[in-house]
Amino acid sequence: MRIFLIGFMGSGKSTMGRALASELKLDFIDLDSFLEEKYYKTIPQIFAEEGEDGFRRKERNVLEEVSAFDNIIVATGGGAPCFFDNMDLMNNSGFCIFLDVDKESLINRLIHAKIDRPLIKGKTLEELEGFIEGMMEKRRPFYEKARYILKGKEIRIDQVVSLLKANQ
Ligand code: S3P
Repeated sequence: MRIFLIGFMGSGKSTMGRALASELKLDFIDLDSFLEEKYYKTIPQIFAEEGEDGFRRKERNVLEEVSAFDNIIVATGGGAPCFFDNMDLMNNSGFCIFLDVDKESLINRLIHAKIDRPLIKGKTLEELEGFIEGMMEKRRPFYEKARYILKGKEIRIDQVVSLLKANQ
């Protein structure tokens, strides 16, 4: 079993991933933390030193690495599905779930969590709203390649567990 949780920043991938991993007795991997540990650098540091391109290359490398692990749930970074053929890689090696959380919930979560996210750092509420709208429009076609899409304000763990059990 190999599950990938994808979706916009603030959609709750890591929280959901941790809860699911303990429920399903799988190992949890937060792709961003895995990347930071592998390269001994924080994400803001990588963006500052190597730009977004450098970050995306590293992100692809770690995604390839974890795609070979077994019995894992991976919470990916919000942009991971949208670069290279990362969606194909995830769909071909595991079960991909898009957590499609509405814009208001994303704003509420992200307004308090901008510091460690270089793409939204320093944005005002209005700028953040515009950014989410524009970026979601570009990213949605990639996210929608996921095998399953769960929509909602809050996506509950039991929804994901039933989905997985029904598709075993
Ligand atoms: C990014 C999302 C972040 C992190 C990086 C870029 C993005 O992960 O990978 O800051 O492009 O949406 P989260 O989705 O966990 O915030």
